[in-house]
Amino acid sequence: MLTIDILTLFPEMFTGFLSESIIGRAQKEGLVKINIIDFREYTLDKHRHVDDTPYGGGAGMVLKCQPIFDCLKTIEDPERKVILMTPQGQKFSQKIAFDLAKENHLVFICGHYEGFDERIRTKAQMELSIGDYVLTGGELPSMVVCDSIIRLLNGAITEESYRNDSHANGILEAPQYTKPDVYEGLSVPEVLKNGNHALINKWRKKEALRNTYLKRPDLLKDYQMDDEEKKLFNEILEEEQ
Ligand code: ADE
Repeated sequence: MLTIDILTLFPEMFTGFLSESIIGRAQKEGLVKINIIDFREYTLDKHRHVDDTPYGGGAGMVLKCQPIFDCLKTIEDPERKVILMTPQGQKFSQKIAFDLAKENHLVFICGHYEGFDERIRTKAQMELSIGDYVLTGGELPSMVVCDSIIRLLNGAITEESYRNDSHANGILEAPQYTKPDVYEGLSVPEVLKNGNHALINKWRKKEALRNTYLKRPDLLKDYQMDDEEKKLFNEILEEEQ
C-alpha cells in the first residue's frame, strides 16, 4: 500500500479531493492511505507563526524551517520520499507519475505565501512543478500529482484504461466515440463499427499520430516510431498538406 503524507497549512482544501470517486475508492480498497497534516500544529510559539520576514529585506513572508523540520521528524520511515511542490521544480509528467506510483511512501510539502526558507530544500529528495505558472500554494499541485499517481496504482483502474492514455506512450491517444453512431449529423468513423480489430488498431495508431502531429508536434521529437508507424506518419503528412 502507498502511504501519502501531505504537509499543508490549508487541510480543508483537500476535503473534496479525498472523497472524490477514484481517490475515495482507492482509499477504501486499501491501495493508498492519505494523511493530511497541518504543519501549523508543529509551531512552538504561542502565536503559531509559520512564517517570518525575509533576511536582507524585501516584500512578503517566508516559511520558517522549524515547523516543517519538526513535522518531518515525526515521519520516521527511512523509505519515505519527500517532494517539495514549487514552481522551481522539475516539470511533472506521466513518466514521473509512473515512477512515483512504484514508491511506498511519499511526503508532499505544500509551500504557501511568497516562498520558503531555502534550507527546507535540504529535506526534499525531489522538487516538482506542475507547469510554468505560479499558484498561491502547493496544495492544488500536490492534488494534481497525487491524482495522477493514485489512478495508476494496481486496481484503482484497469491497466487497459491507462495503457492508451494520452501521454502514457509519449504521444496523444486516438479519438474515441460512443453511441449513437450519428448525432446531429456527426457520424462515427466506419472502421470502428465493422468489428475488424486489426483494422481498428491500425486506425487508432494512425489517428493517435495525427492527433499528436496536429496538437502537440513537440512530443514527436522524443518519440521512436516503429516501421508501421513511420509508414502511417508519411501518409498523414501527405493527407495534412
Ligand atoms: N506552487 C506554486 N506554483 C506551483 C507550481 N506551478 N507547481 C508546483 N508548486 C507550485
